[in-house]
Amino acid sequence: MVNDNIRLIEDEESKRKLAEMYSLFYRETEADGDFCLDDKEAIDTMVSSIGNSQNKWGYFVDNSRGDPVGFILCHRYTNAASSYIKPGDVEIESFVERGERGKGLGKLLKNAATDSIAEMAKGPARVLSFVESTNETNLAVLRKTGFSEIKGSGYTGDPGRMYSIYARDID
Ligand SMILES: CC(C)(COP(=O)(O)OP(=O)(O)OC[C@H]1O[C@@H](n2cnc3c(N)ncnc32)[C@H](O)[C@@H]1OP(=O)(O)O)[C@@H](O)C(=O)NCCC(=O)NCCS
Repeated sequence: MVNDNIRLIEDEESKRKLAEMYSLFYRETEADGDFCLDDKEAIDTMVSSIGNSQNKWGYFVDNSRGDPVGFILCHRYTNAASSYIKPGDVEIESFVERGERGKGLGKLLKNAATDSIAEMAKGPARVLSFVESTNETNLAVLRKTGFSEIKGSGYTGDPGRMYSIYARDID
């Protein structure tokens, strides 16, 4: 493991905590989304999808008290899900609680994910991140961590919203 603060999300309690944190992430990044803490079905789906297949896994980053304050989730595509996504591509979603941002925790999570992706791919792989075009912070973080936009990849998951897809190749 790259750092003592990083741990794989595997037990049920961790997954439940992840579901809560994912709701915060979703509310922040998908302002019109309807995934929320009291949506039990959505939470159960989230909880059960992590770690149950080789293609979906994640890590927590803990603060100094050992409490999780951020996560990264990895989703490896087995099919060409769209014209931008190739089989073997891994999409990442990352989140750090507001009060803990800017301390390098997001970078620790990305490094952990990148290591695991490289290990799993046993060769070159491509990491993808979908970001809303107005999310200046995440755009800055992605550029600083070696991602670049896939040209022409404007993706409209929700009407009226524009997403860019950023990619980074790893060896
Ligand atoms: C994206 C996010 C996970 C980053 O977490 P973080 O712990 O603040 O990131 P770090 O402190 O590790 O910073 C990583 C790099 O980005 C830079 N960075 C961080 N915040 C920044 C900002 N607001 N503007 C510009 N650069 C920034 C850091 O300086 C660092 O680069 P450096 O090592 O060259 O100095 C966090 O901002 C977040 O949870 N955002 C909301 C959810 C989201 O948008 N997730 C991504 C969509 S999948």
